[in-house]
Amino acid sequence: MIVIKLGGSVISNKNKPFSFNENIVKQIASEIKKFYPEKNFLLVHGGGSFGHPLAKKYEIRKGMNGIKRMIGFSKTHEAMLELNKKIVNIFLEKNLPVFSISTSSIFLMDNGKMHGNVSIIKELLNLEFIPILFGDVVLTRDKGIDILSGDKIISHVAKKIEAEKVIFLMDVDGIYNKNPSEKDAELIDEIDRSIQFKSTTGKFDVTGGIENKLKEAFKLHCPVYFINGMVKGNLTKAIEGRKIGTRIKQ
Ligand code: IPE
Repeated sequence: MIVIKLGGSVISNKNKPFSFNENIVKQIASEIKKFYPEKNFLLVHGGGSFGHPLAKKYEIRKGMNGIKRMIGFSKTHEAMLELNKKIVNIFLEKNLPVFSISTSSIFLMDNGKMHGNVSIIKELLNLEFIPILFGDVVLTRDKGIDILSGDKIISHVAKKIEAEKVIFLMDVDGIYNKNPSEKDAELIDEIDRSIQFKSTTGKFDVTGGIENKLKEAFKLHCPVYFINGMVKGNLTKAIEGRKIGTRIKQ
């Protein structure tokens, strides 16, 4: 079973609130369709320009603080459901049996640690559904409420469901030795778990950008790919195990 993260910057334009990259999602669904049902998949999508601007506006990461923030918590979740529905519809139209699960309904956080049961996800996979989860708001035992990133969901779930591979779809070609917008930035083919890096995050990002993505990905024990999800054919190559993007050194 292969886990695919549909990064928020792939499925939406992170700098333009509530923008949805319909054609890119259609392309991703078409590439997955070539392998299903011979291979099983679990999808996790990010918040992009639906989740991040609201999470930032209502300062959800600061925890519970009165009704205004509770309204923001709910609004952020609803925005994620809206984005999720757009993605789900595209997969269903392609005859791919995705089934959406709200992350905030099955997981809780306690001092940064995720708690929850993956039995529904496992059952769906056994029946050859394609479960789809998403970065979401989350209840926590310490500060009441928070945001849970898709990357953290993956590092928690992939181990429990024994994923054979995890593929992160991004809007750049993989992991670079410095900010990819810098002229002399070089793509890293194989990344070592001991790497030291500096990164900058986009103006809406509330979950910590590339640094946290790598921190979570380094917890995985299966092959891990970071590829450009905007380029047709890249996902096919990663599913087939060909050389593309950045891989984590085993
Ligand atoms: C964030 O999820 C979810 C919300 C802001 C509600 P991610 O952190 O996985 O989203 P992207 O991929 O960076 O957009």
